[in-house]
Amino acid sequence: MPMINQALIAMLACARLGATHSVVFGGFASPQLAQRIEHFKPKVVISASFGVEGHKINCYTPLLSKALELSAHKPNHTVVYNRIDIKLDSKAGEVLPPRVEGSIDWSELTKNLTPLRDYALVDSTHPLYILYTSGTTGMPKGVVRDTGGYTVALNYSIRNCYGMKSGDTFFAGSDVGWVVGHTLSVYGPLFVGLTSIIFEGKPTVPDAGTYWKLIEKHRVNALFSAPTAIRAIHRDDADGKLASQYDLSSLRSTWLGGERLDSSTFNYLRKITNNKPILDNYWNTESGTPLISNPSCQVPIKPNATGKPMPGYQFHVLSPNSERLGADKIGEVCIKLPVAPGFTNNLYLNPDGYKKAYLNEYPGYLRTADSGYYDENGYYHIISRVDDIINVSGHRLSTGSIEEILVKHPKIVECAVIGVHDDLKGEVPFGLIVLKPQYKDSYQEVETELIKEIRENIGPVATFKKVISVNRLPKTRSGKILRNILRKMYNKEEYTVPPTIEDMEVLKEIDAEFEKFKLSNLNK
Ligand SMILES: *[C@@H]1O[C@H](CO)[C@@H](O)[C@H](O)[C@H]1NC(C)=O
Ligand SMILES: *[C@@H]1O[C@H](CO)[C@@H](O)[C@H](O)[C@H]1NC(C)=O
Ligand SMILES: *[C@@H]1O[C@H](CO)[C@@H](O)[C@H](O)[C@H]1NC(C)=O
Ligand SMILES: *[C@@H]1O[C@H](CO)[C@@H](O)[C@H](O)[C@H]1NC(C)=O
Repeated sequence: MPMINQALIAMLACARLGATHSVVFGGFASPQLAQRIEHFKPKVVISASFGVEGHKINCYTPLLSKALELSAHKPNHTVVYNRIDIKLDSKAGEVLPPRVEGSIDWSELTKNLTPLRDYALVDSTHPLYILYTSGTTGMPKGVVRDTGGYTVALNYSIRNCYGMKSGDTFFAGSDVGWVVGHTLSVYGPLFVGLTSIIFEGKPTVPDAGTYWKLIEKHRVNALFSAPTAIRAIHRDDADGKLASQYDLSSLRSTWLGGERLDSSTFNYLRKITNNKPILDNYWNTESGTPLISNPSCQVPIKPNATGKPMPGYQFHVLSPNSERLGADKIGEVCIKLPVAPGFTNNLYLNPDGYKKAYLNEYPGYLRTADSGYYDENGYYHIISRVDDIINVSGHRLSTGSIEEILVKHPKIVECAVIGVHDDLKGEVPFGLIVLKPQYKDSYQEVETELIKEIRENIGPVATFKKVISVNRLPKTRSGKILRNILRKMYNKEEYTVPPTIEDMEVLKEIDAEFEKFKLSNLNK
C-alpha cells in the first residue's frame, strides 16, 4: 500500500478483528512479494492500484498479479483500492494500471458498510503484526510484534521519549512499510490521541519546502525524518531560503532516525528550526520503539552523541570475545537481557533463526550488530553496522567517523566510506562522495582537502588516500547506504542485492567508476 488513508484503515481493521497483518513496502518487486506471501500465508491480500513517488507513478497491480502467480500459497481474497483520489494524466503518458484478476474493488466492498462496534479480545502475546526485515543481506526475517508489550512501549515512548500528549500533532516522514511507519504514523500517535500526518511523495517534490509547508499547514508539533531526506532538502535549499518562508513555530522538536545523524544535518536543522531541539534516536525493527535517545529532552543534547539508553534497556559495549569494554572503546553495542516490553521475542516460524541472529553470539546479551561506544558522561555513540569497522594494519577504524568528517565539507551532499582490500595494510578506507551540483567540477581540489582533513582529524593511521566522486549512492528504500555491497563490489567478491534497493542502476554506475579508478591507479 502507498502512504494513503486506506493503508492505515486496513491495518487498524486487522487489529480490531484480531487478525495479524504484515505490511509489505510498495517498492518491492514481484519475487520478494511472492516470498513474503508464501511465508506469511495470508487469507487476504490488500493493495492499491498505484503509488505516487515524486513525479513518478508506481503501478502496483502488475507486480501483485505476478507475485500471486509466483507464490505457491494463494490467498482467499484480493482486495484492491483502484485509486479514485488521484486522476492520472493520460497526456503525460500515465496509463490506468490493469485490474488484478478476480480481485474485489475496495470502493465496492466498503460502499455499504456500517461501523463495527465490536472488537476481538486477544492475549497480550497475540501477534499484532509481522514485519519482514531484510536488513542489508539475505533472506528476510519475520519480526513478530506482540500486542500487549507493544502497547505499553508505545504509550511510554510517545509520551516520554517524544514528549507528546493527547491533542498534539505528529508528522513522521516514513512509510508504513517500515517499523517507523507502524510505530510513529499509526499505532503510537493514535493510541495516545495525537493527530498523525501521513505523506505520500518525496520531500523535494515539487520543491524542498514540502515538509515545512506541511508543518505550517497542520501546526505539526514534532517531526520525525531520516537524515537522508534532510540531506536531500539541504542540497536543494542550501541556505534555508525556502524553509524561511514557512511558519515553523508549532514545531517543538525534530527527531532523526534510521541512520547516524551527521553534524552538518544537525546544524542545518538547528538553523532552519530556529534552534529548536534536534534529536537523534536509535532503534530497530526488532525493538519497535526507541532504544537510545533523549527522553523528553531531559538530559542535555550532546550534538555528536546518539543519546542515553531508554528506561527499560541496559547496554554494554562488548569486544569480539564478549568482554565488557570501558568508556570510549569501540565495540558491539549489546542489550543486556532481558529486553523491555515490545521487543520481538521471536522470528515468525523461525525460533532457531531468532537464537542464531540475536542470542547465541554473546551469552546473556541480545546483539544489535551495531558498533559504538559510550563516553565518560554515559552518552552512547552508535557509529555504524559492525561490518563497517575496518582493520587498517591492525588498527580498528570506524568508517562512520571518517564519513562524519567528509560530509562536513561544504561542497559535499553525502558520502560513504568502505574498507577495501589492500595487499600491504589488509584494509584501507575508500571514500565515495556526491558533490553538490554546482561543484561537480571541483573534484580535484575537494579530494586534496578531504585527504588533508582526515589526516589532521583522524591521523595518518587512517591512510585515507582513495576518493572518487559519484552521482549518487546505492541505498535501500529507507535510505540506508549499501556499504556492504560497495565493499564487496570493489573487492570483486560475490554479493546479493537486497530487494529493498532503491535503484539497481546505481550499482552499474558505481561499478564503472570503480573500474575507472582502478585503471587510472594502475597507470600511475
Ligand atoms: C482459504 O484458502 C485456503 C487455501 O489457501 C483453503 O484451504 C480454505 O478452505 C479457504 N477458506 C475459505 C473460507 O474459503
Ligand atoms: C498511558 O500512559 C498514561 C500516562 O502514564 C497512563 O495514565 C495511561 O493509563 C496509560 N494507558 C494505558 C492504556 O496503559
Ligand atoms: C562533532 O564532531 C565533529 C567532527 O567529528 C567535530 O568537528 C565537532 O566539534 C563535534 N561537535 C561537538 C559539539 O562535539
Ligand atoms: C587486523 O589485521 C591484522 C593484519 O593486518 C591481523 O593480524 C589482525 O588479526 C586483524 N585483527 C582483527 C580484529 O581482525
